[in-house]
This record gives sequence, C-alpha cells and structure tokens, in this order.
Amino acid sequence: MLHFFGTNIRWLFLSLRQTRFPMHTFLRNLTLLNFKNYEDVSLQFCDKINCFVGDNGIGKTNILDSIYYLSLCKSFFSGVDSLNIRHGHEFFVIQGEYAREDKTENIYCGVKQGFKKVFRRNNKEYDRLSEHIGLLPVVMVSPADSGLIIEGSEERRKFIDAVLSQFDHQYLDDLLRYNRVLTQRNLLLKDFARSNWFDADMVEMWDEQLVASGVRIFEKRKLFISNLIPVFQEYYEFVSGGKEKVELSYESRLLTGDFANMLKNSIEKDRKLQHTSVGIHKDDLLLSLSGFPIKRVGSQGQQKTFLVALKLAQFDYIKKEAGTFPLLLLDDIFDKFDAHRVAKIINLVASKNFGQIFITDTSSERMSEILKQIDGEYRLFHISEEGVNS
Ligand SMILES: Nc1ncnc2c1ncn2[C@@H]1O[C@H](COP(=O)(O)OP(=O)(O)O)[C@@H](O)[C@H]1O
Ligand SMILES: [Mg+2]
Repeated sequence: MLHFFGTNIRWLFLSLRQTRFPMHTFLRNLTLLNFKNYEDVSLQFCDKINCFVGDNGIGKTNILDSIYYLSLCKSFFSGVDSLNIRHGHEFFVIQGEYAREDKTENIYCGVKQGFKKVFRRNNKEYDRLSEHIGLLPVVMVSPADSGLIIEGSEERRKFIDAVLSQFDHQYLDDLLRYNRVLTQRNLLLKDFARSNWFDADMVEMWDEQLVASGVRIFEKRKLFISNLIPVFQEYYEFVSGGKEKVELSYESRLLTGDFANMLKNSIEKDRKLQHTSVGIHKDDLLLSLSGFPIKRVGSQGQQKTFLVALKLAQFDYIKKEAGTFPLLLLDDIFDKFDAHRVAKIINLVASKNFGQIFITDTSSERMSEILKQIDGEYRLFHISEEGVNS
C-alpha cells in the first residue's frame, strides 16, 4: 500500500512538473568566432529580456541566428553551413554556456571548410545531431515567416513537420519513409506511362507502405493542429484586442475518407498525371481572416499579428512537450505594428509564461521607450561598426 501510495505521489509530482512548472533554460554566455560578420565577440546575457539595437545590416539577426544554431544545429536561413563562415576565413565557432535546471551546459558548434560539422555538449561530441535537437528548444519569430502566408502549402507543411519531428522521432522516421515510398511510386507511374504497360500489384505494394506511414503522420498532424488552434486564437485575440475573427484549420483529403481507398480510386488519374495526386504530401494549413484567406484580405499588420500568434502557439506547444521554456528570438517584429500591439506583445513575453527573450530593433529610442514600460530585468546591446556594447 505504501509502495503504491509512494508511486502515485511521485507520478503526481512528475506530471505536475510537466504540465505546470516547465524548467528554465538560460543562455548566459555566447562566443562567436568568424561567424558571419563577427570576428571574435563574447556576450553575457541576462535571464529575461536581451535587446540588440543597431542599423540595418550591422549583425543583429546574425546573433539570433547563432543562438538558433546552438539549439537546432543549423542556421534558420540557409542549409549550407559554410555560408556562415566569415568571408575570407576557413572556420567558424559558436559557443554557448547555458544554465539548465541549475546545471551548466556548454555547447560547441564548429564548422570548418571541407570538414564535417562538430557539435559538442560539455566537451563530448555527439554521434548524431538529432540527439541534441530538443535539448535547448528555441522559437524564432522572423520577417521570413511571411513565407508561411504568401508561399505555397509546402512552407506550411514544413512548419508543422519541423515542430513535430523535434520531439517525435517516429514522426520523423515516418515522414522520411513516406517521402521515399512516394518517390518510388511516382517513378513507377512514369515508367508505366513510358512503356505503355501497367501492373496493379506493383502499385499496391507501394500503397501499403504509403498508407501505413501516411495515416500515422495524418493522425499526429490532426492532433497537433487541434491543440494549436485554441492557443493561437487566444494569442491573436490578446494582441489584436479581440476585434478580428481569425481561423486556423487543417486541410487534408484524409479527413474525408480512407486513405487506402482514395489511392485505389485515383489510380486512373494518377496514371495520367504520372504522379500521386492524393496523400499527406498535399496537406495544408488554412489561414483565414473573417472567412477569407489572410493572404488576400489581411493588412500587413494583421498578417504579422497572425504569424506572431502562430509562433507563440508553437512556443506553448514546445514548452509543454520539452518541459522547459524555449528561448524566444524576436527578430524585427516591431516593424509594421502599431504602438498598441507592440506594447501588448512586450508585456506578454515579459510575463512569467515566457522565459528568456532576445529582441532586435533598429530604433534605440523605440526600444528604450518600450523597456521603460515593463518591470522585468533587461539588457540593451548597441551594435555598431566598432562592436557590441551593453
Ligand atoms: N559569411 C559572412 N561573412 C561576412 N559577413 C557576412 C556573412 N554573412 C552575412 N554577413 C554580413 O552580415 C550582415 C547582415 O547581418 P544581419 O544580422 O542580417 O543584419 P541586421 O542587423 O540588419 O539584422 C551583412 O552586412 C552581411 O554582409
Ligand atoms: Mg535583421
């Protein structure tokens, strides 16, 4: 009985900690060597709000990107590591010292021209980078997010996949498998067309595998988006003052029936098209304002509010999954927002529902004004040709 009781208490404690008390992760020191425009710089951060102000092109976003690198082992902007080496040099190093649940974590990322990227945690090199991903969660809010609204559905699937695969390795495996099988099926359809021949059994073999991983991906996307919607709406309402009606919904043919049957029924069409016309590779996330696509009817400010609300909802999701506060990187978010919305956002992220924040802005005056309005701890960094001063 005692044992039973003890187990339950421990379980209760653990689940409370998971749901109500995410742990804190703070980046205390950051060192950059030959990373983009930085030759050699060392920065000490405070635990709450860290702001970088300076002119366009001075290197504010580069600092946020280096923090993103230490969490996700890659740049937010480019998949080619060597592009981030300072021009005319052979390597870059990013080092971060984190405080995570009273423990210090030293993270090292080194990229040398022509060599494999080196990633270390406390001097021990990782065998696989995927072992690191998820340890120090991060959420970037960037002007580049506008791609989520203006680009095609692939951008939105990438957004969903990136969030889910950080914490669910099976999801990532399924996704890789699905894409491999899809490529094979499409090659087969092309082969059939070219040789004027058809064998239903051969297609069915691929269909079985497509259905197995496709349905698992579908179920996870559906659950993820249904959890995201209320949080997203709450954030949008808060930032906009509740005057606008926005909607986020999952669009997938798999919502309307059985995937295996759909593949069977569309085979004639697929043969003509020479590719697979139905499946989770066609899924989309619908973003609308008062019933119309936000891409067409939203003002720039409304679109930006939408993206910020979406990213903050992502923040909440990751916080819950990882059991720790993600670092929040807010790049140039004050452009195109009215003063009212700016104040709302800053007050929101300064609250205890968020952890450590990194913000960039071109206007030192605007940033100082904003910081005066909040009571949280902050540090202001001025970046100029001479370097970084706080
Ligand atoms: N590999 C690199 N080597 C040297 N400079 C770089 C490299 N990559 C980017 N930069 C420089 O970084 C600057 C842009 O920095 P960024 O952080 O985007 O500026 P902002 O302050 O506007 O956010 C540009 O001047 C660009 O030339
Ligand atoms: Mg920038």
